[in-house]
Amino acid sequence: MATTKVPEVRDTTRIERIGAHSHIRGLGLDDALEPRQVSQGMVGQLASRRAAGLILEMIKDGHIAGRAVLIAGQPGTGKTAIAMGIAQSLGQDTPFTALAGSEIFSLEMSKTEALTQAFRKAIGVRIKEETEIIEGEVVEMQIDRPATGTGAKVGKLTLKTTEMETIYDLGTKMIESLSKERVQAGDVITIDKATGKISKLGRSFTKARDYDAMGAQTQFVQCPEGELQKRKEVVHTVSLHEIDVINSRTQGFLALFSGDTGEIKSEVREQINAKVSEWREEGKAEIIPGVLFIDEVHMLDMECFSFLNRALENDLSPVLIMATNRGITRIRGTNYESPHGIPIDLLDRLLIIATSPYTEKETKQILKIRCEEEDVELSDEAHTVLTRIGMETSLRYAIQLISTAGLVCRKRKGTEVQVEDIKRVYSLFLDEARSSQYMKDYQDSFLFNEAQAAQMDMS
Ligand SMILES: Nc1ncnc2c1ncn2[C@@H]1O[C@H](COP(=O)(O)OP(=O)(O)O)[C@@H](O)[C@H]1O
Ligand SMILES: [Mg+2]
Repeated sequence: MATTKVPEVRDTTRIERIGAHSHIRGLGLDDALEPRQVSQGMVGQLASRRAAGLILEMIKDGHIAGRAVLIAGQPGTGKTAIAMGIAQSLGQDTPFTALAGSEIFSLEMSKTEALTQAFRKAIGVRIKEETEIIEGEVVEMQIDRPATGTGAKVGKLTLKTTEMETIYDLGTKMIESLSKERVQAGDVITIDKATGKISKLGRSFTKARDYDAMGAQTQFVQCPEGELQKRKEVVHTVSLHEIDVINSRTQGFLALFSGDTGEIKSEVREQINAKVSEWREEGKAEIIPGVLFIDEVHMLDMECFSFLNRALENDLSPVLIMATNRGITRIRGTNYESPHGIPIDLLDRLLIIATSPYTEKETKQILKIRCEEEDVELSDEAHTVLTRIGMETSLRYAIQLISTAGLVCRKRKGTEVQVEDIKRVYSLFLDEARSSQYMKDYQDSFLFNEAQAAQMDMS
């Protein structure tokens, strides 16, 4: 007997991967921009979140360009989390681009080119376009199949509005898209004249009597009024960088998919800037300054900082958000020391938001949210122990232990992580302090050969 293969059915409910900040869904502010203690995945850090909320309003307002914000604080105090919170709260149309300071140093393009591309990715251009459409209720559709069974199909489509009725000739392509959309008499449809794209808006109310035969999902709409042919405004939002890539002849739009855009000539950019400002004057386009987030900004060097200084003066500049965990340190590429490793003249332009370490209660709450995010059940004692670990080592280390402890628990076929599971992963994986201690304790054996060699040289 032949066995029939049943296609494998996969569980599609949890396809999304869990990232370090995937629990952050916003800044957790109320309507008055006051932070709630725990909301949208965010816990505590109230003062910084309140400040970030003001920045967010400024960005949403869209009229302010070229502002820069620095989020400064110790590692693991939620600097990146706050930036992600801002990103989550921006509308879909507002571009948000993130990069780490060290990404600038690539071999494929100069540092300033990489920064320019990042800046232009963070500027949106909302383009308004008018297209002509035909909108009406289908009265009748008649398709003639050639008698031979092959060859081009032709047909006629009758559409009406409340005021008029017209018969259109149909070509093969039209017939195909009509049958693909399963258009029937009584449907209200639109046809884009330029592309031939057909969209079904719903069933006409006049057909509502057939409701029983349709099922509950059917949407009913009014039969359109007025002319069959209409002008309709459509809006697209693209980034300046996308316009650059599409128009740079050596790259073409395919480069958008590969991401391998190389350097773009400055003439191309100048032309595009001119064109965009022309569109703005004609009311065809609108500029939407978005957000460029540069994490670990102390990795940038002097050249990059002076570029930033200049780029922020441009009226086509996004809001720049930077984050750093450095105190007073050397500016990369110089021998000067400066707060956060950022030159004073740039620092002077920045709004600075400080983050501070979490209390035990806040740490406990963040760990709880992360457990929910990673689908790991924790017993109360285990939660307390993990919080203690978070306070004594680092929040990041404690977060790392969640999934590993979850795995250990599953291996012993448990359903809830217990203190013993936490203990086990705590002994398996070193935190930073224990790892340094280990190095110190055993440095003699690590360096044994070199130390020996040095001694022999001395003698
Ligand atoms: N206030 C907070 N609420 C919720 N989760 C947070 C908060 N602060 C930090 N986290 C989480 O803790 C981890 C470390 O924070 P992160 O933002 O990477 O720190 P930083 O960038 O300051 O070094 C991340 O997984 C982050 O999402
Ligand atoms: Mg960070």
